[in-house]
Amino acid sequence: MSERVLVFDTTLRDGEQSPGATMSENEKIEVARQLVRLGVDIIEAGYPAASPGDLAAVQRIARECKGVTVAGLARVQFIDIDAAWEAVRYAENPRIHTFVSSSPIHMQYQLRKEPEEVLEMARQAVRRCKGYLSDVQFSAMDATRSDLDFLCRMFAIAIEEGATTLNIPDTVGYTTPEEFVRLIEYVKEHTPGIEKVVISVHCHDDLGMATANTLAAVTAGARQVEVTVNGLGERAGNTSLEEVVMALKTRRDFFGDYETRINTQEIVPASRLVSRASGIPVQPNKAIVGANAFAHESGIHQDGMIKHRDTYEIMTPDSVGWGQTKLVMGKHSGRAGFRERLRELGYEVDPDRLMSLYQRFITLTDRKKHVTDADIIAIVEDQLQHDGPEPYSLLAWRASSGSDGKAQAAVILEHGGIEREATGSGNGQIDALYSAIDSIVQLGAELEEYHIDAITPGDDAQGAVTVRVTVDGRTYSGHGVATDIIESSVKAYLTALNRAASAVVAPVRVEGTV
Ligand code: KIV
Ligand code: ZN
Repeated sequence: MSERVLVFDTTLRDGEQSPGATMSENEKIEVARQLVRLGVDIIEAGYPAASPGDLAAVQRIARECKGVTVAGLARVQFIDIDAAWEAVRYAENPRIHTFVSSSPIHMQYQLRKEPEEVLEMARQAVRRCKGYLSDVQFSAMDATRSDLDFLCRMFAIAIEEGATTLNIPDTVGYTTPEEFVRLIEYVKEHTPGIEKVVISVHCHDDLGMATANTLAAVTAGARQVEVTVNGLGERAGNTSLEEVVMALKTRRDFFGDYETRINTQEIVPASRLVSRASGIPVQPNKAIVGANAFAHESGIHQDGMIKHRDTYEIMTPDSVGWGQTKLVMGKHSGRAGFRERLRELGYEVDPDRLMSLYQRFITLTDRKKHVTDADIIAIVEDQLQHDGPEPYSLLAWRASSGSDGKAQAAVILEHGGIEREATGSGNGQIDALYSAIDSIVQLGAELEEYHIDAITPGDDAQGAVTVRVTVDGRTYSGHGVATDIIESSVKAYLTALNRAASAVVAPVRVEGTV
């Protein structure tokens, strides 16, 4: 009989802690909906005590996402636990995830508390959570650098107080598969009551071993894996959902009969959505979801593939959702048909937004021969990153360049009801346009990253541009979609600057995490 492994997705919490990965409320909702379609068991929707905006986003996800557990993170402080409860209380299945450090180095230098005090904080925190709800997860942060007997004492206290899931984080990505297995076996043997709870693991990828460590933990008895889409997360990132799920599925012969609830065909759509919403591109050679993950370049490989797919392919691209860009609509489809298609793709939009999306769709059908699901998803997601009024809007742009590489550009932006026009020059049209925009917005922004993707193949493909800029040491991302890549570039840059100018989405870090 197969055994269930629960998938706890923390893209919206640990993933969002990646510098510059901050998402707007609408983007978070879209990601949460996709996580439901993907079939994750638990969505860690955020850290509600971080800001009123974070609390509101978790609350919305809790109210709107059905058939899934919605968790909110909280330090062991009551103020955090109370905020987490406020955020998740209307979920069909609410969970509070509370954590405190267990390693000597964290307790001494970060918490500045004696170990016995930390144990008491853990006890009081789980007790406080249980006063609100039954599903309580407790994490011992930096568990892999902790004294094992102390770790077991901390876990025993959490169990005594009623925690239902115990999470063992490899917070700094330090452990190795064999060592992690030994740690889990030790915890199982020396923690009274451990058989009553679900053992969870949460790995970071600092040494590139997050997936290996997580899989090893499953063989040692972990039945919840904490993961993020694309492996997004603090520093080198978290364990990647797609790698763990596909490894368990593809190597059942080795790992054993473990089942997740993941609908694997939703993996690539989830990856694309998270990449666009977070502004963090997927590296082309990333396992499962990278653009080259199923590309066979060498003649020998191609020859083998033609003769028998299994020669070089251990899973099919279809099984993880590649190649599902269907031809869907033309300019005669009408607004009702367009709305229906949006619904089928999982988007419920209000009438105003529907109107502007429809107009973009019609414009697109004029410029592009075949409009596919991927095109529609791209324009919806592009639109969803704009939550409300923004300081600057683009009215017009023009750019020209010559064979000497020098380019000239002009933009007209609207700001506070006034039209502002500026010109700029640079090495290429995009550079010239960015300099024209800078001279109006004047934030001293540094362009850190520029990335372009074709949404679909073909000459008339829409180009999706993602940029990351820093302003006063903080990173902001923006993306833009259009059939003209210069226009996508302008939109992406202006979106990032608008985010910086309104600073409504300043990156939030969970105080106390590493
Ligand atoms: O990495 C970590 O230890 C965390 C905890 C909050 C679980 O993210
Ligand atoms: Zn983490």
